[in-house]
Amino acid sequence: MSSDLESRGEVVVPDGAGAEGDPIPNPGVPPHEPRITDVDEAAATRAERQIATMFGLAAVLVLAFVVAYLLVPKHAAFLGFGASNLALGMTLGLALLLIGLGAIQWARRLMDSHEIVEERHPARSSDEDRAEAIATVRLGGAESGIGRRTMIRRTLIGAMAALGLPVVILLGDLGPLPGSRSAHTIWRRGTRIANDVTYKVLRPEDLELGQLVNAVPANLEDLPEGSERNNARAKAAVILVRMEEGDFRTLPGRRDWSVDGILCYSKVCTHVGCPINLYEQVARQVLCPCHQSTFDLADSGKVVFGPAARSLPQLPIMVDSEGYLVAQSDFTEPVGPSYWERG
Ligand code: FES
Repeated sequence: MSSDLESRGEVVVPDGAGAEGDPIPNPGVPPHEPRITDVDEAAATRAERQIATMFGLAAVLVLAFVVAYLLVPKHAAFLGFGASNLALGMTLGLALLLIGLGAIQWARRLMDSHEIVEERHPARSSDEDRAEAIATVRLGGAESGIGRRTMIRRTLIGAMAALGLPVVILLGDLGPLPGSRSAHTIWRRGTRIANDVTYKVLRPEDLELGQLVNAVPANLEDLPEGSERNNARAKAAVILVRMEEGDFRTLPGRRDWSVDGILCYSKVCTHVGCPINLYEQVARQVLCPCHQSTFDLADSGKVVFGPAARSLPQLPIMVDSEGYLVAQSDFTEPVGPSYWERG
């Protein structure tokens, strides 16, 4: 079948394509346009030189990579970056980039250029195959007796329709949304703070200067054993650390959130919720083992390294009438990963 475009010479329809009866006329391909490098020898030479320059520079950069690896000191800094990493990354990265760009230019400007038409075999099956398939389906239907056995047919249709119900019912598990539930833990005003191994309730004098203690709310024991208690424990876990008074920075409004230099923070990493448990006493920082987020306990739990985007939530604490460390309230912000924080 020839189209108007073909008769005007704007497209070329390959031999044998566009057979009579095809549902969509073959649009053909535009006539071949030679590139400047196909018709101008000087342009081809220029392109060759440019591409060779890129490959040559890439080779020089690879040598520079080897030199940088051998000579740049591992701990030297440049513009605030590690000089060694910077030099290795820049040289090897640029070398790979130049090789890639050179290859692309080579293919686009100098390699042989001509259109290729790949014929597809007809998608339609032969008449014999179609007739055979229909006969097989009919035979199957006849042998199963589905046409005669109306009771089986109806109950099967009913069973298949019922299968849609679990899908609808299970959608209910997608909701309701947790709302503000994720923002709360079982800490309450007056909840005593207990060591998370011995469950001994803690007094300020139980913590030495510089010491860090993992702790939980003492009212955990009131919850039934099992997943409810485990979940509550995971969310409410805290770390207590004691520092010299005046040796740490608190946020405005949090001056009375500590007791004798004892500060209390959530133990749940604000990245994706791993328990934080590596303590660097000298730096007064805690490190999350999952992705190395590091939090400065002497600076209101601020993130100093790693992927966490939010400071560790601080639990306000005080001492009760019997001298035990207790919470002043629940956390004032959601604990755990930042995606818990909404609104
Ligand atoms: S969960 Fe702590 S750094 Fe990723």
